[in-house]
Amino acid sequence: MEHGEGWRLKYILCSMLLAPCSMLFAQAPPESSCVTCHKQLDAELLAPVTMMENDVHAHNGFGCESCHGGNPNPSVAEDPEAAMSRAAGYIGKPSRKNIPRLCGECHSDPALIKKYNPAVPTDQLAAYRTSHHGQRLFEAGDDKVAVCSDCHGNHGILAANDSRSAVYALNVPATCGRCHGNAEYMASYSIGTQQIADYDSSVHGQALLRKRDLAAPACNDCHGNHGAIPPDVASISHVCGRCHINNAELFDKSPHAKAYAEMGLAQCEACHGNHKITQPTDERLNPASEEFACAQCHEAESEGWKNGAEMYGILTDLKTKIHMADSLVGQAERAGMEVSEAKFIITSADDELIKARTQIHNYRAAILRERSQSGVTFANQAVELGRAALAELQFRRKGLAVSMVIIFVVAAALYAKIRRRDVEWRGESS
Ligand code: HEC
Ligand code: HEC
Ligand code: HEC
Ligand code: HEC
Ligand code: HEC
Ligand code: HEC
Ligand code: HEC
Ligand code: HEC
Ligand code: HEC
Repeated sequence: MEHGEGWRLKYILCSMLLAPCSMLFAQAPPESSCVTCHKQLDAELLAPVTMMENDVHAHNGFGCESCHGGNPNPSVAEDPEAAMSRAAGYIGKPSRKNIPRLCGECHSDPALIKKYNPAVPTDQLAAYRTSHHGQRLFEAGDDKVAVCSDCHGNHGILAANDSRSAVYALNVPATCGRCHGNAEYMASYSIGTQQIADYDSSVHGQALLRKRDLAAPACNDCHGNHGAIPPDVASISHVCGRCHINNAELFDKSPHAKAYAEMGLAQCEACHGNHKITQPTDERLNPASEEFACAQCHEAESEGWKNGAEMYGILTDLKTKIHMADSLVGQAERAGMEVSEAKFIITSADDELIKARTQIHNYRAAILRERSQSGVTFANQAVELGRAALAELQFRRKGLAVSMVIIFVVAAALYAKIRRRDVEWRGESS
């Protein structure tokens, strides 16, 4: 009790000293019983106090008791039984199974959340229940799946758009990877743990994690934040199509849309995969290449196979023309000719080639031929301009040669004349 007396004295002294300050900062709530006592403890009993200093809940005035219950009144700061009393709603450390309901109590309550931040939705628990994680937790009692605190933390929870948050796009793959990349943790399941490594090596993973391009998808952009279910095969093109709008529109109108749906084939995934999506090249349309995408389902010389092969021809022709224009115009430029118009047209042809590659998602060579026509026209124009520039160069060179000859002849004639005058003059003077 002597110890207690000491604290009480110090408390009174501090309060007297701090009173003027607390009047200045009238909103600052008095320290709760929980914090007063726990900050004198150590290890995992102390950690929550320090971590809460950086927590979105604490910043909004929520104390320990808002999740754990109990009596936060400073008057019980020395009485653990009174502070952590079941009668005052104290629940102790929540079990993993109860965490979604605990967080959901407030986060499913629009009236409460809107008071603090009207922009934050209140569907997380409902969405979580539909996810594979939620289903296994609530229906099979499997508490190894992700609960709210696995992705957000428990103390020190940050706003989702805070770049230090575990659910900020750049940090999501590592957050999911704590389980999905951990072979030991996932050993009792059949889904494997290759998703993280595959994603890391993909165009998307490289763009997000290396180039820090926030337009590239993290895990949650395809799987949802809370409804983490693999997109079912019939809806994959909608997931990919949120960003690759043109490809998805073409696919939906193509002969594949209906056929894939009927046969239960995955849409974009059938050709591109899901996690290990690489930068495709024209070789994927080359019948002579192992990468030929159409051969996966279409037999040699069938309609699908022939359309693929023909598309390869169309793209190759366009590339060859652009290449030719490039080399002619380059030659003229190095010789000092003015070729800015031709170079601009080549850029346009390049753009058209890129657009043509998207058009392969019609899967019809006839359509690709039509759509790549403007590219061919630009490439032809550039070839013409390149040739004209070189012809002009030839012409100027010939012109130069002729004028050189004339200059030489005139100079020679002049010289001869001067010599003659010289001889005559010397003859006269001698
Ligand atoms: C006078 C000191 C004291 C006060 C006041 C106090 N605690 Fe504790 N708390 C402890 C000690 C000691 C432990 C570890 C022993 C135990 O579990 O009872 C603990 C443990 C806990 C645990 C972990 C329980 C577990 O099952 O692992 C939680 C959660 C907790 N306290 C929350 C609170 C909250 C919330 C308040 C305020 C409403 C509070 N405490 C007030 C001393 C205190
Ligand atoms: C937003 C809700 C929330 C708030 C606010 C909160 N906690 Fe917790 N706390 C949790 C959850 C969830 C767990 C269980 C974590 C787990 O299972 O890993 C937990 C666990 C604990 C534990 C058990 C030790 C551990 O880390 O596993 C202690 C002790 C504790 N909290 C104390 C506190 C104290 C003290 C405060 C206030 C400074 C506080 N908590 C504020 C949600 C909260
Ligand atoms: C599998 C990981 C995961 C789980 C489990 C999870 N979340 Fe989230 N949470 C996220 C991600 C990812 C975001 C969004 C980040 C963003 O907006 O870019 C998010 C965003 C949020 C937000 C910000 C508003 C919003 O909806 O975008 C809140 C609030 C939230 N989660 C609460 C919860 C609650 C409550 C639970 C448990 C019922 C939970 N989360 C479970 C990953 C998770
Ligand atoms: C007592 C009610 C309450 C409880 C319990 C609670 N929260 Fe909150 N939470 C709030 C309020 C209010 C906000 C403030 C809204 C804001 O400013 O974003 C908030 C904010 C958040 C945010 C930031 C949202 C954003 O992006 O702005 C996340 C993430 C979050 N809570 C997750 C959780 C998790 C996870 C749990 C359970 C461990 C939990 N919350 C428990 C009330 C609560
Ligand atoms: C705490 C560990 C943990 C974390 C963190 C976690 N998961 Fe899971 N996840 C699991 C477990 C366990 C399963 C169940 C596997 C099963 O049933 O085959 C699962 C299942 C899934 C499934 C369903 C797989 C199937 O069977 O078809 C998807 C999709 C998924 N998680 C995505 C994510 C994403 C995305 C994140 C991050 C935003 C994430 N998970 C974070 C543990 C976790
Ligand atoms: C570009 C979209 C996309 C991204 C990004 C993505 N996934 Fe997937 N994921 C899918 C698709 C599509 C499936 C397969 C669905 C099907 O076939 O039913 C899938 C399946 C899964 C599965 C089920 C098991 C399996 O391997 O088939 C898990 C677990 C999973 N993803 C986790 C993750 C994690 C973790 C990340 C981040 C590192 C991630 N995914 C990123 C689209 C994506
Ligand atoms: C959140 C937006 C987003 C989603 C969802 C998305 N992608 Fe992407 N994708 C991108 C971005 C951004 C790039 C460019 C990356 C880079 O190279 O910088 C890209 C690149 C690609 C590339 C390489 C093409 C190129 O020219 O670089 C392919 C192929 C691709 N995505 C296919 C898919 C498929 C298939 C899906 C669905 C399973 C999908 N994407 C889902 C944003 C997205
Ligand atoms: C039948 C196979 C197949 C399907 C299905 C398919 N693609 Fe492609 N995709 C290809 C081939 C082949 C290329 C390479 C074209 C080239 O480089 O010549 C490609 C190229 C791409 C590119 C890079 C070129 C560009 O448009 O920027 C993106 C992005 C892409 N596909 C996205 C998608 C999306 C999204 C879906 C689903 C809506 C999808 N693909 C469905 C075969 C397919
Ligand atoms: C995942 C399997 C799959 C892949 C890969 C695939 N197809 Fe198909 N394709 C089908 C199915 C199934 C049909 C409908 C049945 C049929 O007509 O053979 C179809 C039909 C077609 C048709 C319509 C055939 C007709 O008789 O009208 C064309 C054209 C076509 N595909 C072109 C392509 C091209 C080009 C590629 C490569 C870029 C390709 N397909 C790759 C499965 C595939």
